[in-house]
Amino acid sequence: MQDLLKMPIQNNPLSLLICYNSIMEHMLHFQELDSTNTYLKKHYANLPEKTVVSATRQTAGRGRLTRSWLSEPGGLYFSVLLKPHKIDFLPNLTQLMALCVCATVRELGANAWLKWPNDVLANGQKLCGILSEAVTDKNGFQVLVLGVGLNVNQTDLSQAGQPAASLKTLGINADTQKVLQQILDVFFEKYTDVVNNGFEVLRTEYLAHFPYIGKEVSVLNGAQKIKGEVQTISPEGKLVLQTPQGLKEISIGDMMV
Ligand code: BTN
Repeated sequence: MQDLLKMPIQNNPLSLLICYNSIMEHMLHFQELDSTNTYLKKHYANLPEKTVVSATRQTAGRGRLTRSWLSEPGGLYFSVLLKPHKIDFLPNLTQLMALCVCATVRELGANAWLKWPNDVLANGQKLCGILSEAVTDKNGFQVLVLGVGLNVNQTDLSQAGQPAASLKTLGINADTQKVLQQILDVFFEKYTDVVNNGFEVLRTEYLAHFPYIGKEVSVLNGAQKIKGEVQTISPEGKLVLQTPQGLKEISIGDMMV
């Protein structure tokens, strides 16, 4: 706690709130940050595992594939610092987070589902995106930063760059900090099991919220586009497609329906 208080921070210290909750994450909240992911990537060496940084707004929110993430007040923007003792299943931790967000918003009444690998959609529109970034140095893997952008109370998402919904546009009123706490509770309940055992721990629940089996999709991975019919999600969390060239297991990409 003392170390945290001495840490250099980027904006007014009054905007910093530190508290401990029942499962002992360390929580930092800023009124404004460039990006909660960037903050943790800069400061991870001085912060304990499971530090959660959230911001009321981000001035340079980042999405996957170098896209930007609209981060006006009303949304939930947070990142979690993870230092797992075993790194075999890092991509599955991102899928765990997506599942926890999906379960949380469903509990709040949203008819939400998962779009592989880690988007949460409702009404055919994006409700939540997750940016996972591993930090490495000369000694190898250091930390994983899992950043979540969930649209909660925004009413105008016309600048989101893609069709987007918020809980509010779905007719659901929610408190961002309570939603955050609920997501973290379910995430840390399963975290160690996923670190040790991977996607197997989540597969049944993930598949229950993944409505794309039997659908024709394309997956973009850089310049490569693979088309096929979704068969399943493999025990490792990969997308299994039936393509004209046979079954393909895809570990990374952007799935388009
Ligand atoms: C996506 O492109 O779908 C991922 C979006 C991730 C946005 C979140 S908001 C909190 C965290 N900080 C960032 O700069 N990005 C992530």
